[in-house]
Amino acid sequence: MYYNNYICQKLGKIENLKIKKNKSAELKKNEVKLKVLAIGLNYVDTLMIKGDYQHKNKLPFVPGTEACGIIIDENCNDKKLLNRKAIIFTKSGCFSEEIIINISQLILLEKQFSSLDGASFFSSALTAYVALLEKAKIKKNNFILVTAASGGVGQACVKLALHLKAKVICIVSNKKKAALLKELGVDKIIFINNDIKKEVMEFTSNKGADIIIDINGLLKEKNILGSLSWNGKYLIVGFTNNNISTIKTNYILIKSIQIFGVRAGEFLRRCSTIKKKKIIKSIFSLYKKGVFKVERYSIKPFNKLIYELIKIRDRKSIGKIIIKTKHLDNV
Ligand SMILES: NC(=O)c1ccc[n+]([C@@H]2O[C@H](COP(=O)([O-])OP(=O)(O)OC[C@H]3O[C@@H](n4cnc5c(N)ncnc54)[C@H](OP(=O)(O)O)[C@@H]3O)[C@@H](O)[C@H]2O)c1
Repeated sequence: MYYNNYICQKLGKIENLKIKKNKSAELKKNEVKLKVLAIGLNYVDTLMIKGDYQHKNKLPFVPGTEACGIIIDENCNDKKLLNRKAIIFTKSGCFSEEIIINISQLILLEKQFSSLDGASFFSSALTAYVALLEKAKIKKNNFILVTAASGGVGQACVKLALHLKAKVICIVSNKKKAALLKELGVDKIIFINNDIKKEVMEFTSNKGADIIIDINGLLKEKNILGSLSWNGKYLIVGFTNNNISTIKTNYILIKSIQIFGVRAGEFLRRCSTIKKKKIIKSIFSLYKKGVFKVERYSIKPFNKLIYELIKIRDRKSIGKIIIKTKHLDNV
């Protein structure tokens, strides 16, 4: 059996990814083989290919961190695994029509679970869950300010915060992204070039935001800490364009600010088995209630993967992009 995948031979440009034909390999102990149905594209994939992400894959590597597939072979002494649908949530390997992976890196799904959602909701949902519930411990009526709110992680944070009855303020860069957030029912939208502090203070009757979720490292460009309330919480979730900043410690002291780093995948990996199961169960229950349902996605063929990933890198994507493989139509 032969299959295609995308290989990153040298860190740098997405344009340098190469498509390669491979022969199916043998399984090691505790591994399963899946035919990949759909692949969710994430900003983190662009960072890994560029070499800007904290985790560095050994070269050459197959990028891709999220997908949905069907198990076609197993070496776990468990024939019941065959034909099961699963979410693949990993640090590499998903830009492929076939993947071999340790069984521990899969989340098994019911057969009728949407393959498109399976390929695209979990990573953003987990990040929102860890940020809002485990770290910020968000409460009803809290004011929450979300940067890069229209992206995958942003939308998941917005929808979870709305579900928990917080007051949601979103920062966006253009009107199309604002329209998407309006559809979700957010309380306030601020355009990135406006006076963010002034608008937040007006909206919160001078209290400030209880929580800031900084998804694109906006602090590097704008002093968004000025929009926080006394005892406010600032959560660092991600960076685009390598915009990592330094924070003045006197500022943290004066406003009694609490700062949290969020690494959702690592958080889950380090949880006890019981806690891990509880978090995954809660995420799926929120998904069933529609909280983490992906609102808008575009579906593109496998041979357009590079082109679509460039759109994400260049800030041109709106909503989730999913790559379907030749296997999707045969499920
Ligand atoms: N901490 C964690 O555990 C964790 C987990 C998953 C992802 N992340 C991180 O979260 C971030 C967002 O991921 P995502 O999947 O939501 O990405 P996404 O869907 O592509 O959304 C990213 C958003 O960031 C803004 N943006 C894009 N390019 C930018 C640029 N060059 N400069 C400034 N802003 C830019 C855009 O919003 P506007 O144009 O409206 O500003 C865009 O909607 C990434 O840095 C990713 O690594 C972190």
